[in-house]
Amino acid sequence: MTDPRKILVTSALPYANGPIHLGHLVEYIQTDIWVRFQKMRGHQCHYVCADDTHGTPIMLRAEKEGISAEDLIARVHGEHYRDFQGFHVEFDNYYTTHSEETRTYAATIYQRLQERGLIESRAIEQYYDPVKEMFLPDRFIKGECPKCHAKDQYGDSCEVCGTTYTPTDLINPYSAVSGAAPVRKESVHYFFKLSDPICQQFLRKWTTGQLTERPPLQPEAANKMQEWLGAEGENRLSDWDISRDAPYFGFEIPDAPGKYFYVWLDAPVGYMGSFQNLCNKKPLPPTPLPSGERGFSLPSPASGRGVGGEGYLNFNDFWSKDSKTELYHFIGKDILYFHALFWPAMLEHSDFRTPTNIFAHGFLTVNGEKMSKSRGTFITAESYLKQGLNPEWLRYYYACKLNGSMEDLDLNLEDFVARVNSDLVGKYINIASRTAGFVTKHFGGRLLGVEIGVGGLEEGLDPLVDALRNAREEIAEFYAARDYGKALRKIMELADQVNFYVNEKKPWELAKKPDAIGQLHIVCSITLNLFRQLTIYLKPILPKLTVEVEQFLNIKPLLWSDLHSTLPESHQINPYQHLMTRIEAKQIEALVEANKPNLQATEQPEPHSEQRHAEHQQHAIQPIADTIGIEEFAKIDLRIARIVKAEHVEKADKLLKLTLDIGEAQPRTVFAGIKSAYDPAQLEGKLTVMVANLAPRKMKFGLSEGMVLAASDERGGPFVLFPDQGAQPGMRIK
Ligand code: MSP
Ligand code: ZN
Repeated sequence: MTDPRKILVTSALPYANGPIHLGHLVEYIQTDIWVRFQKMRGHQCHYVCADDTHGTPIMLRAEKEGISAEDLIARVHGEHYRDFQGFHVEFDNYYTTHSEETRTYAATIYQRLQERGLIESRAIEQYYDPVKEMFLPDRFIKGECPKCHAKDQYGDSCEVCGTTYTPTDLINPYSAVSGAAPVRKESVHYFFKLSDPICQQFLRKWTTGQLTERPPLQPEAANKMQEWLGAEGENRLSDWDISRDAPYFGFEIPDAPGKYFYVWLDAPVGYMGSFQNLCNKKPLPPTPLPSGERGFSLPSPASGRGVGGEGYLNFNDFWSKDSKTELYHFIGKDILYFHALFWPAMLEHSDFRTPTNIFAHGFLTVNGEKMSKSRGTFITAESYLKQGLNPEWLRYYYACKLNGSMEDLDLNLEDFVARVNSDLVGKYINIASRTAGFVTKHFGGRLLGVEIGVGGLEEGLDPLVDALRNAREEIAEFYAARDYGKALRKIMELADQVNFYVNEKKPWELAKKPDAIGQLHIVCSITLNLFRQLTIYLKPILPKLTVEVEQFLNIKPLLWSDLHSTLPESHQINPYQHLMTRIEAKQIEALVEANKPNLQATEQPEPHSEQRHAEHQQHAIQPIADTIGIEEFAKIDLRIARIVKAEHVEKADKLLKLTLDIGEAQPRTVFAGIKSAYDPAQLEGKLTVMVANLAPRKMKFGLSEGMVLAASDERGGPFVLFPDQGAQPGMRIK
């Protein structure tokens, strides 16, 4: 093997205000498999995570429960940690963002951004609860849906008709916290100037892989980023509001009393905080001693094989700008924006290293639909374990379904039962259960060596042992690429071959013939060696089962490099005990039943998954411009125009060239920045609105003789205006 790599891996930090569910586990199981694989390969790999603890929803939930936010997050931390352990997700550190380490790094990053001139403060107007005396995130404002008039809808979207809007659009809005009518209130906010050309240029290069050896994003993610960034020269990113006003559960901004970091600023910093905390727990490196003094030896490397022999950890090795180590973030596609834009920009401009790669995955559906409380498919990790289901069944099934892409993946409950039973139990476990008994019964638990030269067992040289071994690079590549589905397909193909071999040799018949007893010994020895090889391949996915296999085979923890060897001559194994049972369909029925809402429960329903982050969103109210008199308005000559022609402009990324007829002798030419939203063919022949008396402007591509009107904000656009039927070119708009 080449030099051990130094790798730091994270999964997204789960919010501390809800339980871990099977959707979350897609991510944590996926990451855990990857980390276990890297460790087995002998690399130094550290897996850190933490609870994401800050923000208004957590503050209000604690209040409602009558406990402090600190007590709430401590309790949830325990629950999350328990659930992850239950599914064998093995973090090297599971911490909290509410820590001094995270506070320190958040402050450092903020101060460095400030020194670079990338922090700006300005007053904005937002909705405020005058009774509770706090600013309200959109989700905490309710009212009547402007579209379907359903009552008591959230400030960001209507659950009845699905319309999305801003709280300003609600009819009769009220605060979900106190019931009071929200008022507008101005306050100073701090912004990270993502619109600064420095940030835009950096992100354009970083997201397209121009700054790194390998592209840091999957192709689908890189494409999304180009959409978000817009074309070269276009300035689509707006500044990011990183402050919230008291009362808020979070970190106070160092030089701004009463202002707190917005939860999404310190959340990714929690990766650093958790890693620093891990470093603090590791012994420090010995300082070089002045010559002449006797040195002392390094603390012995952490126990356990395959840890890469790290005795201590140094934060800067992993986070300094010139770090030679690798940093990977596993995330869901819903938080790509934060990880692929905000986070690298923060790190780059505060002199830290940027991620090597961001691995985004899709969302879990159950039986082809979104997880749903009422259908009982919003299944918590806790209930799965409490119902007595084996966590490795789920690890196995998710692994079958994962392919390293951002596609959603489906937990089909019928298929889940079928696959686990037929492949995992029926193919893999079966190999051991069909042969182990004979070894104990007839040979005192001793195996023959199966390779030539070992114990002189010439017939034992088995091509299958080689075939299995030769698949190792292919399988390793699938693991490294997070294409566990392909890895498992290959592994199960090999398991089929092994079963075919057992079927052919029929050890149960050999056992009946006294003169075939030597043959039986060979067949069982070969088969159990093959089983050991398959176990190495499956170990990242089935860590607990592997420990049991290791006990049964009486061997040290398996490493990837153990594929090169076989069990020694006369190796003694332990009596076989059943390794894994089949799933019964009724267990799944019971699980779904247990997750159906309990009518007595008074608990609030979980927010829809896509609204989890929206819970934190707090809209600035776009202030209305200064009042003008009618005389001033009358100065603007707005006319109905017919789009006679619409064309692409060579080399222009955002402009379309429009030829407009407003009833004059000659049509006008107008260049409009609407290319991102409109196909020229779709515009030709339509009527629109133009400013007819705007001074002509000389542009790179020609003279623009006016302007067409379109609406846009962070919700989308541009949306071009089209007049009602009957309007004619040249009509004045007043
Ligand atoms: N707290 C933020 C992450 C901050 S990272 C600096 C957050 N928390 S979360 O609890 O909502 O989600 C944690 C992770 O689980 C995210 O990567 C998210 O995409 C993932 N998943 C949550 N629900 C999921 C599914 N239903 N399916 C697949 N992954 C899901 O986001
Ligand atoms: Zn509605």
